[in-house]
Amino acid sequence: MGKNNDFDLSSNSEQKAEINVLSGFVKNLLTLKNPDNMLKQAQKVGLKKTLGAFDLIILGVGAIIGSGIFTVVGIAAAGSSESIGAGPGLIISMILASLACVFSALCYSEFASMIPVAGSAYLYTYATMGEFMAWLIGWVLMLEYIVGYIAVVSAWSGYFMQFLKGFSKYLPDFIVNPPVYLIHDYSTAVHELTLKGINPDSVIPNFLGIPVSVNIPGILITLFIILTLIKGIQESTKMTGLMVAIKLGVVGLFILTGAFYIKPENWIPFAPNGISGIFMGAFIIFFAYIGFDALATAAEETKNPQKNLPIGIIGSLGVCTIIYVLVALVLTGVVPINQIDTHAPIASAMVMVGQSWIAGLISIGALTGLTSVLLVLMLAGTRILYAMSRDRFLPKILQTLHPKYKTPHILTIMVGIICIIGSLTLDISTAAELCNFGTFASFIIVCVAVLILRKTDPDRPRPFKVPFSPFLPLMGIFCCGGLMLYSMQFLQKSRLLFPIWVVIGIVLYFVYSYKQLRKEGHGALKEEDNA
Ligand code: ALA
Repeated sequence: MGKNNDFDLSSNSEQKAEINVLSGFVKNLLTLKNPDNMLKQAQKVGLKKTLGAFDLIILGVGAIIGSGIFTVVGIAAAGSSESIGAGPGLIISMILASLACVFSALCYSEFASMIPVAGSAYLYTYATMGEFMAWLIGWVLMLEYIVGYIAVVSAWSGYFMQFLKGFSKYLPDFIVNPPVYLIHDYSTAVHELTLKGINPDSVIPNFLGIPVSVNIPGILITLFIILTLIKGIQESTKMTGLMVAIKLGVVGLFILTGAFYIKPENWIPFAPNGISGIFMGAFIIFFAYIGFDALATAAEETKNPQKNLPIGIIGSLGVCTIIYVLVALVLTGVVPINQIDTHAPIASAMVMVGQSWIAGLISIGALTGLTSVLLVLMLAGTRILYAMSRDRFLPKILQTLHPKYKTPHILTIMVGIICIIGSLTLDISTAAELCNFGTFASFIIVCVAVLILRKTDPDRPRPFKVPFSPFLPLMGIFCCGGLMLYSMQFLQKSRLLFPIWVVIGIVLYFVYSYKQLRKEGHGALKEEDNA
């Protein structure tokens, strides 16, 4: 009996110990980071505060307008082998996609004005859902910024080659028409060769048994972006301003010239594939709006962020929506739906109405526009990783600032190298789809986080508040979640790669970050003590 009692007692204490370990573990995963400490910490580190509202709108438009309106718009209107097109009803798709973004943008603005520190969705999650979710969202955001960068760099290199072709009279043939394995990632090179009936193995060279296809224009532009970002955000903003002016100029030229060639009969039928076409169009054109959230990542470098960030975020989204709807109206009014060129729809529309010189200018504008998108995407990616390293999720060396330019140069070089490796392996459509998944996930989380913090910290000053809460944040969750789920029935490769990416992130957290945070006491709690 006594033995039995002993047994029962030790079993009870073992159970209690197990429960304690488990509850300690769960508590660790849910540890929140106090927003006040985030602010204090940001003040200590002192990234230079140089950006005003106008700079932010420029950065925002620079981040948003890119391959979406120069390339993806054609697929959204006319459809592709995987999806159906929206037809002239694309303007409704654009407004739907823009609405999903506006709901999320309002939530981003509430957070960005309340906690104006580098890190955006990642830090908002840390303040509301705890350490584990914060890591996970930071990891998923890399899909948006780094994988999104890879998608845009692919488009950039395509436009660059098209641009060089304009100089075919003056340049040697090996520059104007290089082998496909020097200008594409491996899958695109294989696809291009297969389309021409050529066996890829007979053309693509091998190095130690591995086929090598190198996107050289992509590598060159990435080196340029790395150097620009190391030199400093202020210089980047000036350059982005110039690039935004050029791309707005060519888009304006398209709208004004195209308006004279609109045939209203092209707008009938308005929605050839019904509501499904419009919904699928909204999913596809969503890519064109990605980028405004990157502004919140520059919060620490913004003057008077409480006022300027919401103006920058919502302002740039508004400007882009108006431009996109006008472009869609002109494109579908000028070109019959079944004749839209899905590779270069805007430039081709001008060629079709006999304005080839405007088509040439549009190609230059597209190249410039894509460059500014690249700049902001890499900037945002590095700033999120910077914040994650500051929280000890990632090695401390990544926080090192350049002695002269005060920018995280080691981190920028590391991200640049990842982008280069990615641009050798991922094709544009897979990269864009993955980017969309990452963005949907982060938008949903930010909307949820606003609702949580309203409950857990209702008295915190909110210089900007989402109106009609909880209705608008819930609409954000509904719209983004709906688009994400809807797309899953069509997309084969990215539907698989997205969960794999999430699982890799979870493993890394437990293998490295979880332990690292506990090495010197608990990360977030320790910071609170120090602050
Ligand atoms: N919105 C960005 C683009 O269209 C990603 O290129």
